[in-house]
Amino acid sequence: MIAHQALSQWIQNSVKTNERTRKRFPGSARKVCPNCGSRHLLDKIVCPADNTLLAPTMSHLALPDLLMKQLERSAIDNRFVLRSYIGEGALCWVFDGTQIEDVMPVAVKVLRHELAADQRTNTRFLSEARMWQQLTHKNIMRVLDTGMMPELQNPSTSDSLIWEDGFSNERPYIVMEYLRGESLKTVLAHWQLSPELTLRIAIEVLDALQWAHKQEIVHRDLKPSNIFLVPDEAGNIHVKVSDFGLAARLFRQLDWTPQTTKTGSVYGDPSYLSPEYLMDQKTGPQSDIYALGCIMYQCISGKSPFVGQHEFHTLIRHVRDRPDPLTEDLKVPKLLQSAIFKSIEKDPLNRFSTAVTMQEYLASLATNVYAGK
Ligand SMILES: Nc1ncnc2c1ncn2[C@@H]1O[C@H](COP(=O)(O)OP(=O)(O)OP(=O)(O)O)[C@@H](O)[C@H]1O
Ligand SMILES: [Mg+2]
Repeated sequence: MIAHQALSQWIQNSVKTNERTRKRFPGSARKVCPNCGSRHLLDKIVCPADNTLLAPTMSHLALPDLLMKQLERSAIDNRFVLRSYIGEGALCWVFDGTQIEDVMPVAVKVLRHELAADQRTNTRFLSEARMWQQLTHKNIMRVLDTGMMPELQNPSTSDSLIWEDGFSNERPYIVMEYLRGESLKTVLAHWQLSPELTLRIAIEVLDALQWAHKQEIVHRDLKPSNIFLVPDEAGNIHVKVSDFGLAARLFRQLDWTPQTTKTGSVYGDPSYLSPEYLMDQKTGPQSDIYALGCIMYQCISGKSPFVGQHEFHTLIRHVRDRPDPLTEDLKVPKLLQSAIFKSIEKDPLNRFSTAVTMQEYLASLATNVYAGK
């Protein structure tokens, strides 16, 4: 179980290692550990941290080289230059770069080519990205710009680049502040968190959620990979929530065929989907509270409360099962345990009514239980 200072140190070391690797081998850290999300060079076979077999990060291994060459040269709108590939999620590839004018480091998300398929997807992606851009808050990853990347050209022939599957080569992008941190997903693959640290993180996530909910924006895909932990110079860890609304709008409101929706990643991560979404396709602020409750339970116990033997079993358990109590050896204060269980009640009406009330309650617990430590 790891506490604040030790985790801050661990994240700082991990960021330094990743940045050093990217500098020495730009564009090459293209194997990923399916367990902890760490990235490695293509010649690595297993993850040094947990011995899991590494997977290549891209569906077409040849593609990124071409794309990288293009992207490394290109400046978007003469304002941002891209440098090297950082990683990828279900929706996007992420690159680091620089904002030319004030030499500020940025991270650029580019919609994956198999998704940048038609005008409608691109438009929806951009409209969600612009909503996220309006959310300026200290606990929300800052979006600096969004737009469409210009057509890419084949570097040797200068012809327009056409992907083999015929998809369009224009793609939407999001420029974000570059964060020197790690996602909670990566952290949880290595550590269980102390109840106190979990409480501190949850309070900051709720700060972000209450701000977004006030503007009537529901995250809908809150999960550890969208919670970034960023240590400051004094070693204090700050939370930045990312990807507001992106996945939900793209995947849950389009007429995707069963083939395109059958993997867990495109539906959202099964571990954090609320019963109301699973039963009635409804999501609201209460669904974000539910996801956060699942995440808090996982931070402390090491596993999400309804995890099943396979994805379908997990989905059933959200609707049907009560979570196991957190065991005594975890030393979770009773009031904290009941707050977590309240936030993962099946009926949204039995949860905290808003992110504000949940945050006030957790903040009072932090003061009463951990003050002075
Ligand atoms: N603003 C940022 N600064 C630095 N690194 C970032 C930033 N945003 C994302 N990353 C890195 O890029 C990787 C991919 O992020 P992305 O959000 O696309 O995927 P994900 O969160 O792992 O999965 P999902 O698609 O489910 O959200 C992250 O693991 C993270 O390491
Ligand atoms: Mg993400």
